[in-house]
Amino acid sequence: MKYINKNFLIEKVKVLNLAKRFNTPIYCYSYKQLKNNIRDFKKNFKSFSPLICFAIKANTNVNLIREIRKLGLGADVVSIGEMMKALKAGINPKKIVFSGVGKTYSEISYAIDKKILLINAESKSEIIEIEKIAKSKKKIIDIGIRLNPNTDAKTLSQISTGKKENKFGVNEKTFLELIKYSKNSKNIKLKCLSVHIGSQIIDHKPYEKMLKVLDKFIKKANYKFEFIDLGGGMGISYNYNNKKLNYKKYNIAIKKFLKKYKSKIIFEPGRSIVGNIGFLISKIIYIKESDKKNFIILDVAMNDLIRPALYGAKHRILPAQKIGKISKKTYEFVGPICESTDRFATVKKFQKLKEKDLILICDVGAYGMSLSSNYNSRPKPIELLIKGSKINIIKKRQKLIDLI
Ligand code: LLP
Repeated sequence: MKYINKNFLIEKVKVLNLAKRFNTPIYCYSYKQLKNNIRDFKKNFKSFSPLICFAIKANTNVNLIREIRKLGLGADVVSIGEMMKALKAGINPKKIVFSGVGKTYSEISYAIDKKILLINAESKSEIIEIEKIAKSKKKIIDIGIRLNPNTDAKTLSQISTGKKENKFGVNEKTFLELIKYSKNSKNIKLKCLSVHIGSQIIDHKPYEKMLKVLDKFIKKANYKFEFIDLGGGMGISYNYNNKKLNYKKYNIAIKKFLKKYKSKIIFEPGRSIVGNIGFLISKIIYIKESDKKNFIILDVAMNDLIRPALYGAKHRILPAQKIGKISKKTYEFVGPICESTDRFATVKKFQKLKEKDLILICDVGAYGMSLSSNYNSRPKPIELLIKGSKINIIKKRQKLIDLI
């Protein structure tokens, strides 16, 4: 992805041409970047060849998940809908793990029928429910239990999941009780210890701490887990100068852990697989000048990309064509929705813009389209996957008629 002759290209395709052909807004993904991310992820941990289950919630486009499956990944799902999408994309059920605090009767029943690898339970009540359903189907079901390691992931509080005040997992005492409980059960088999301490983690130290907690816990439990599911959370760089996770250090800590325990490692990465493959292409509708800044009113809004409004997330914005001249004014990029939080970024020293110009919001492949909504009765954007010079429509633009 780069500028050639002042035009921004996604692989070999000019953004300008995409906008002409498909109109805007567009979610556009690069296949090459996806392939590189998966290759790098595998390479980082190749000494113990983990099972990598893509966290479907990060991007739920079935056609994209199919490509991810072809590149060797399984799936981490959190609802029957995500499970159906993973299966539709051809993911082998033996590469699917089911996480989440509130799995319903029908979701558990469906997971059992589809013979997925693991149901990672998060409470005693859930284990009893799984056992009851398994018994009624005369089956023995492999489960995991999610431990809440009370570890601070040092990320945004809204996306932290591993501290004791968070709803996720069970504490050490309950886990020890549940190990005993499952040993005596005829219908469940405890195979996995799972954790997930949060998302967009760029400091490796919380992971090291988490592994120390696991080490202490397994010693105490004196139980052999076939799988250790370490969750996802690997942070990416949303800015040129932003830090990202040091995989080498995380890998060293896991290898040290594996010297003691011969379990198979499972990962559930979402953002690190798809975050930087996506761009949101948008056209400027109006420019509204005011004393202190110019409002750049885009045809994308918080319903298309909610991360800035919800978490104060910062995404880079680039012009689709570089004309060089820099504006002295501060620009605020906003959407047309009737909420003051409907803004993407405030920038200085951006190039001079005019109405109808195109811009790109970067690194929106994870939790972009999957968190989008129809707020203000706005149809969802088209999704494209670029492979070299080939453009694949992987989801059509939602029609207004479907909303009305
Ligand atoms: N496994 C579990 C159990 C999870 O809850 C999550 C994310 C993942 C794996 C994947 O985490 P990742 O590798 O993508 O960090 N909407 C927020 C992120 C919420 C993450 C929720 N759980 C955002 O836009 O930043």
